[in-house]
Amino acid sequence: MAVDTDGKWSAGGKPSALEVMQDAPVIPVIVLNDVAHAVPLARALVAGGIRMLEVTLRTPVALACIERIAKEVPEAVVGAGTVRSAADAQAAAMAGARFAVSPGYTHAIGKACHDLGLALLPGVATGSEILAAQEDGYAALKFFPAMQAGGPAMLKAWHGPFNDVKFCPTGGVTPANAGEFLALLNVECVGGSWLTPGDAVVKGDWARITQLAGEAARLPRA
Ligand code: 3PG
Repeated sequence: MAVDTDGKWSAGGKPSALEVMQDAPVIPVIVLNDVAHAVPLARALVAGGIRMLEVTLRTPVALACIERIAKEVPEAVVGAGTVRSAADAQAAAMAGARFAVSPGYTHAIGKACHDLGLALLPGVATGSEILAAQEDGYAALKFFPAMQAGGPAMLKAWHGPFNDVKFCPTGGVTPANAGEFLALLNVECVGGSWLTPGDAVVKGDWARITQLAGEAARLPRA
């Protein structure tokens, strides 16, 4: 892993957005429908070498899952995905999330995360959105939805005008195309849901998830 394993992060004991991105080649995008799955799933991912975990706020149990992982899996660094408002950011921080990921960017989300001391990976898909996030001090961004919004070619085009920005492309990223993204100089990691297939989670096939995490953790980066 690229970052120290003792959790001595730069931002007062919490990882910065760049540290979240640099820890492993893939940030798993997780959807949980049952609180009972949260801890074994987190442990399975950590066992494979992936500890930055994005639990999306898309289900009624998402915050409870974040809370469980934060309390019971100290080796993991749990974050909240699908943060769409300042209230989401506050709820995520209260539950123990140590970073936030948003599908788009607003000043209100940026300010809330700043005030909470919560690392934020703001979602962007256009140059104007990159500029808005940069104006508020964010330079480690999620490119979303990556494949649908232009894929690796878009990131290559952005590297000229935005060469001080690092990206985590997410959305349509798969084991087949992850390498193409990870080879780009402005890409630190990718995000994706393929590490946590719904059927494996429901069946409690944690060994499969550890295997997928292990394969993801070994993907080469630029
Ligand atoms: C999402 O919003 O669900 C993430 O971007 C993951 O997308 P994926 O399922 O295409 O990996």
